[in-house]
Amino acid sequence: MRNYLVAGNWKMNGGTAANAALLDGIVKGWPDVSAAGAVDLLVCPPFPFLEATAQKLAGTGIALGAQNVSEYASGAYTGEVSGSMLRDVGCEYVIVGHSERRALFGETSAAVAAKFEAALAAKLVPVLCVGETLAEREAGRTEAVVGEQLGTVLQRLGIEAFAAGAVIAYEPVWAIGTGRTATPEQAGEVHRHIRGLLAREDARIAEAVQILYGGSCKADNAAGLMAMPDIDGGLIGGASLKADEFLAIAAAAARS
Ligand code: PGA
Repeated sequence: MRNYLVAGNWKMNGGTAANAALLDGIVKGWPDVSAAGAVDLLVCPPFPFLEATAQKLAGTGIALGAQNVSEYASGAYTGEVSGSMLRDVGCEYVIVGHSERRALFGETSAAVAAKFEAALAAKLVPVLCVGETLAEREAGRTEAVVGEQLGTVLQRLGIEAFAAGAVIAYEPVWAIGTGRTATPEQAGEVHRHIRGLLAREDARIAEAVQILYGGSCKADNAAGLMAMPDIDGGLIGGASLKADEFLAIAAAAARS
């Protein structure tokens, strides 16, 4: 059985005081939520706040992740942050290939696959984001787009890369930050397709991989999404910036 994973992607939000208040709220409410079911919690703040967040989370059972990682291990790469540095400050996870990085910062599927490999090399769990734009969905290309994004990682690293612990997040671009969430049926269909792509390579590994949904997931729509058989949690943007809302999503997963 797969545990649920509910991950907060803070994006470029927050600051020392605001983060402390948010984390206090999350840490305070977490024991009740985690007692209710098989759900893990993860927060992904911006780089400068990772270390302070690690200290706040120590002993809580809540995991820490980063939002990006360099494909390089070390050296003359100004402005980059390596996987071993993330590990050093307490990260266990890292998001790779978020659609904002693909669209705004020109990350190709090949670059994302290199980052995925760098994460594994640093013993971080990569959270690989995939998803189609509205134009791609309307053109009937959702499966092709997601297939290319996942396929590039599979071609580079093989299905074994998912056996060591790797998470996939299906995030339809048209649902991110728009308030327009995918219906449970729409999301469930793509999740089933993604698991099918993995199963073609190895059915046992496919069954174990957590596939999260992301895109305007909130307390009031989480239960329907989490009830779908191939949805194993959420990657939460806006709603992860409010402790009550974030915990309510985790509680919905715990009840599923
Ligand atoms: P959202 O963002 O929940 O604000 O739509 C999700 C994400 O981009 O990970």
